[in-house]
Amino acid sequence: MRNRVEVMHGVNLDQLGRRDPSHYGELTLEELERGISGAAHELGLEVRFFQSNHEGKFVEHLHRLKGMADAIVLNPGAWTHYSYAIRDALELTRLPAVEVHLSDIESREQWRRHSVITDLCLTRISGRGPDGYRDALECLRTEMGE
Ligand code: DQA
Repeated sequence: MRNRVEVMHGVNLDQLGRRDPSHYGELTLEELERGISGAAHELGLEVRFFQSNHEGKFVEHLHRLKGMADAIVLNPGAWTHYSYAIRDALELTRLPAVEVHLSDIESREQWRRHSVITDLCLTRISGRGPDGYRDALECLRTEMGE
């Protein structure tokens, strides 16, 4: 069974714990990843994590995924709203992907409502906080099991 999921966090997500808790909660990235690992374990999935504040590094990591991962969970942070480079690299992977946002991007500033990657993803989960990552893993497990 395919079960390797790459969880990718983009720009400024390494600063969780310092960012506005009303949008992003209080967990640090390390604590968030611990929770995601626990959920993955329960679901029988293998997860690996990647975070970068450098768009090119994020793109190159997507390039490297072929043969290394079966699916992707990604929260590109602010790149979500404008990075066609990340969009093109995600498309190149040809892997099933789910877009996750901790905050509800629909109910914030106008510029956050648009995502350049949503149509490449199975679904977008936004505003569910850390639980959104579990939802994403469940969605991908169903997809990979088929
Ligand atoms: C975010 C939402 C983005 O608009 C923002 O730039 C982020 C985090 C989220 O998880 O809610 O950095 O992707």
